Amino acid sequence: MHDISRLPHLVAGRERLENLWAAGTDYSTDIVEAARVQNAMLHLDLDLTGECKLNCFYCDRTPDRFNDVPNRIEITTHERCELVSQARALGATTVEFPGAGEPMIDPGFWDIVEFVHNLGMTTVLFTSGYHLNENAVDRLFNLGTTVFLKQNSMSSAVQDKMVGVRGYGIKAQRALKLLMERGFNKTIPTRLAVDMVVTPQFNESADFAEVVEMHRWCRENNIHNYIVTLIPEGRADKQAMLLERERTNRMIQAVQKVDEQEFGLTYEPSRPMAGGYRCRQVNVGLFVNLFGEVYDCNGLGRFLGHIRRDSLETIWNSKFSRHVRAPVQDGFCLLRERVWDDGDALSGLERKVQLYRLYKATKGDDPVVTGGLEFAMNPKPKPEDGT
Ligand SMILES: C[S@@+](CC[C@H](N)C(=O)[O-])C[C@H]1O[C@@H](n2cnc3c(N)ncnc32)[C@H](O)[C@@H]1O
Ligand code: SF4
Repeated sequence: MHDISRLPHLVAGRERLENLWAAGTDYSTDIVEAARVQNAMLHLDLDLTGECKLNCFYCDRTPDRFNDVPNRIEITTHERCELVSQARALGATTVEFPGAGEPMIDPGFWDIVEFVHNLGMTTVLFTSGYHLNENAVDRLFNLGTTVFLKQNSMSSAVQDKMVGVRGYGIKAQRALKLLMERGFNKTIPTRLAVDMVVTPQFNESADFAEVVEMHRWCRENNIHNYIVTLIPEGRADKQAMLLERERTNRMIQAVQKVDEQEFGLTYEPSRPMAGGYRCRQVNVGLFVNLFGEVYDCNGLGRFLGHIRRDSLETIWNSKFSRHVRAPVQDGFCLLRERVWDDGDALSGLERKVQLYRLYKATKGDDPVVTGGLEFAMNPKPKPEDGT
């Protein structure tokens, strides 16, 4: 009988677990450590449009991730390309579009992806798949993109309910098929991931049967399975929508059992991610939102500065920025853990500047952050603004 565990990606995964993560996000501890020694930035997260045709009941977007926010002026495609160049100069190898809304419907989407590719960097795209047709899949393939496709359930009906749009689930299934046929999952590390959010309302059962089934299918097909509990932000900023910490632990254990028993993969799991994945981006990257505000992470994020006031290099090297990325992250998700710890009563921008206020009280002002905050509250467009 064919021994699944001898498939090349699983053999590579047993040698280095990060070989099973998606290309462009496969930061192992040695890569992170080398970057830290050189003060290199490896990863730029960039929001594109806030527009989206779907209506997910759990969408984590905070008000600052929608277009047309009063008194906030969006950055242009030209400015985004400039940012990509600045990130490249700081050492970045990946530009990720986590999606304020649906990145693929940003008018500058293809220009930016081409720009990233021409600089020899990897684009990592989070997409619902709603706009993925054969032509787009082919273009993304040729531009070296890694795709994280929303895939909350194997049932199209459940997918439809979760995004609030009938017919979405069938399109997402087709998108997955097209990406596989084009060969996104033929490399090691793979260029194809599925993003599965687990919510008490839909795809969770006592034994996490659906999560485990999706995970097993992904392992068999060299697809990175990004299984996450909800980020408590935006519409999901309600305790009732989150798995509790203990249930999250049980979900991670259920997945780990499959990995050990069926695929010979051993690792120390790290909440909130299943399958041994550990987010390390806070140590090696920055996130820039629709309006040019810079944070350490696109989830909750701590405010670090504003790109229309300071260069990415100045922000990366500011006192507070270095302070934020000093502790080794290695999978720890501050924004989920602190909600589990104390309910996190703060909201909006106050949450994002809380750490800075504490820092300032003991270590003094950081002009990059203070100035950036003032700028964010009273934005002035660049005179040459166009696209
Ligand atoms: C914010 S979306 C943007 C890209 C695209 N519109 C999409 O939905 O795939 C990026 C990913 O985050 C996931 N997501 C949305 N809200 C979330 C939440 N509250 N917690 C965790 N993940 C979430 C989505 O399911 C999606 O896979
Ligand atoms: S999660 Fe993505 S697809 Fe769903 S509403 Fe939010 S931006 Fe749109």
